[in-house]
Amino acid sequence: MIKEIYENVYMIDDKLATKSIDKGKRVYDEKIIKVDGEEYRVWNPYKSKLAAAILKGLKTLPIKRDSKILYLGASAGTTPSHVSDIADKGVIYAVEYSPRILREMLSSCKNRKNLIPILGDANKPQEYSYIERVDILYEDVAQPNQAEILIKNAKFFLKKDGYAMIAIKARSIDVTKEPKEIFKEQKEILEKYGFKVLEEIDIEPYEKDHILFLCRYKGEK
Ligand SMILES: C[S@@+](CC[C@H](N)C(=O)[O-])C[C@H]1O[C@@H](n2cnc3c(N)ncnc32)[C@H](O)[C@@H]1O
Repeated sequence: MIKEIYENVYMIDDKLATKSIDKGKRVYDEKIIKVDGEEYRVWNPYKSKLAAAILKGLKTLPIKRDSKILYLGASAGTTPSHVSDIADKGVIYAVEYSPRILREMLSSCKNRKNLIPILGDANKPQEYSYIERVDILYEDVAQPNQAEILIKNAKFFLKKDGYAMIAIKARSIDVTKEPKEIFKEQKEILEKYGFKVLEEIDIEPYEKDHILFLCRYKGEK
């Protein structure tokens, strides 16, 4: 049984999937399921924090077919490729600072015209200041200053009332503190700088000590 649970996101029996815009190609070792001439790529929650958050009950997925997205920490393109299936009429600016890792994403970008690879440091948004303003900012960089990175990039690129999603890894921030305490502090920082945290999704058992915040950007006062 196939059911569309958000725009362009499907459950096929008990598997989360997106409809591939690059038929016949795998990006990682994902399974492909064919239904009525379409190919659906199974979205693995152990390899994608966004998939994990969806399966853990994320209520609102702001990514729509025509969304413009800035994705920070693109890595080799696992989650960005699913976002590219969802926003099939939109655009994803995918920033990664490791040339070696970004190179692995390039073959996926060839037939995915909405997925734009950018070699850049998310700490320095001025390096890619040529991109347009976006509806959604997605960040998964696993760095101690991840909230600061989100704030900086939002100032440059996120439309007012746009959405931000950030995956926070407690251990990247402080190994000595309780994850709960870290998440509370990170939330306070984001709320101080113009974000309203709408949802907080603990993504255990897919990732340990990680949380995904869905936020709305009101802009700094
Ligand atoms: C956890 S991985 C991202 C996985 C990816 N989001 C996915 O779900 O497929 C984090 C990535 O962020 C990158 N990264 C870390 N700091 C960065 C920075 N300041 N600017 C750009 N990329 C960064 C790392 O090189 C790594 O590839």
